[in-house]
Amino acid sequence: MIVVLLGPPGAGKGTQAKVLSQKFGYAHISTGDILRKSVKDGSSVGKLAKTYMDKGELVPDNVVIKLVSDYIVKGHESGDFLLDGFPRTDQQARELDSELKKAQKKVDLVLYFKTSPEISIERLSGRRVCSKCGQNFHIKNMPSKEEGVCDACKGSLITRGDDNVETIKRRLVVYEKETGSLINYYKSQNVLEEVSGNLDVEELFMQIKRFFTKTKKA
Ligand code: AP5
Repeated sequence: MIVVLLGPPGAGKGTQAKVLSQKFGYAHISTGDILRKSVKDGSSVGKLAKTYMDKGELVPDNVVIKLVSDYIVKGHESGDFLLDGFPRTDQQARELDSELKKAQKKVDLVLYFKTSPEISIERLSGRRVCSKCGQNFHIKNMPSKEEGVCDACKGSLITRGDDNVETIKRRLVVYEKETGSLINYYKSQNVLEEVSGNLDVEELFMQIKRFFTKTKKA
């Protein structure tokens, strides 16, 4: 099954994707993670992407599509996968459909995490990320056992460069303008399921787990 997680920044897409991939064996493809890796590697694509990401703007479609297409091909070749943060524009959605069509596949399910802007701001401004393994925490909702230290690998926890209130607000505006139309795009394909992203992590997982069955890899 090919699943798209759709929703504003801070809706909890990455958090649920990690749980779903652990419990059900789905591959997790996050364009945010792929882009941040390019930035860390210092590649020319990464340097270009950083100029957009730092401002809370979308990286241009041609760059993202080129970067993500290999992952999509590998994803559908190996079976079930979750897309987190992609597609984010009409063009990306159409490119995804046409890439999948070549393999006689399609997006089977879009989980839309409807989330209030206040919740997004509260979650993102309190998010802390492990600088070593990328694990996500939240200072109130999901604190690490030891302050500033990752539970999983003992790496130090940092605040993402785009998680300041000004950039978060810009990301929310960009989401409404560029990504909001995908709700109707996928409604018209009869694959959209709306859930409340305002629920806590466990409650949200209880709402969405009914859509999944274990893959061979789980
Ligand atoms: P990306 O990394 O995709 O960021 P985003 O969409 O802004 O999503 P977030 O990771 O901020 O939110 P999330 O919904 O995954 O929430 P999370 O689970 O982490 O993209 C970053 C940038 O890259 C973009 O701005 C853009 O520049 C570029 N980019 C990426 N993809 C692109 C594309 N396709 N096209 C163009 N540009 C692209 O949770 C957030 C926090 O809340 C955490 O602290 C977590 O612990 C906590 N939390 C999570 N769930 C809950 C819950 N249910 N209850 C309470 N707390 C919770």
